[in-house]
Amino acid sequence: MAEKIGVFDSGIGGLTVMKALREAFPGLDMVYLGDLARVPYGGRSAETITRYALSDADFLMRGGVSAVIAACNTVSAIALEELRRRLAVPVYGVLECAAEQAAAATRSGTVGVIGTRATIASGAYERALLAKGGALRVLTNACPLLVPLVENGIAPDDPVAETICERYLRPFRGQGMDVLILGCTHYPVYRTVLQRLLPGVRLINSGEALAEQLRPLYGRYAAGSGHVDYYVTERSVAFDEIVRIMDDSVDAAAIHVDNSFL
Ligand code: DGL
Repeated sequence: MAEKIGVFDSGIGGLTVMKALREAFPGLDMVYLGDLARVPYGGRSAETITRYALSDADFLMRGGVSAVIAACNTVSAIALEELRRRLAVPVYGVLECAAEQAAAATRSGTVGVIGTRATIASGAYERALLAKGGALRVLTNACPLLVPLVENGIAPDDPVAETICERYLRPFRGQGMDVLILGCTHYPVYRTVLQRLLPGVRLINSGEALAEQLRPLYGRYAAGSGHVDYYVTERSVAFDEIVRIMDDSVDAAAIHVDNSFL
């Protein structure tokens, strides 16, 4: 039987990770779960995030996956160890690989990280970056408005997106930062805006960093056309619009809803 991997996120943001994985491994079968009924995770307690993550992973395991990917940075920061303890298959997060790419890319030694409140408060990115060695200086800022902005269909070319991104990037200005980790699945949607506001700064997309890390494992799927199933736990009101903003190659009408396990 063909190998299938499971990918989950707190919502629809993980489609940016799926996009990177589909581009890198088009021949790989995948199943995606976006927990739209319980999103956002980013302002919740570690206990709740872990409980939600375990139920999402169980859903994927029941579908017979051979590995589970926590596409969500918040889950990767808070619950990865627990997922690894509980699941009988390999579990990959998006934080370690993003930290690794950032540490390798910086020349100035100053790396910035933006993420949800829970991700930033956990200190997980600082720990991962400092563990890479070298005398890195890590600057962080939580950007809680960016997720609701995307979830409410505010496209990257909307001036509101630029105003809010500019505000969140202010603490990084004049600090000599040359690499910024987009430490949340939604943020790659605003990549062009962020890049315009930070010319010359390398932006790290955790989905692309993950695809790089997984290349030795799944490189044999670099060609072909695998089967991909998309599930969400709820179809939010602006669902079709958000899916289009996240990844316009995904057909929103073909996404299944399953909340039987909540
Ligand atoms: N998917 C989450 C992350 O990557 C952001 C959305 C949320 O707060 O649930 O951190």
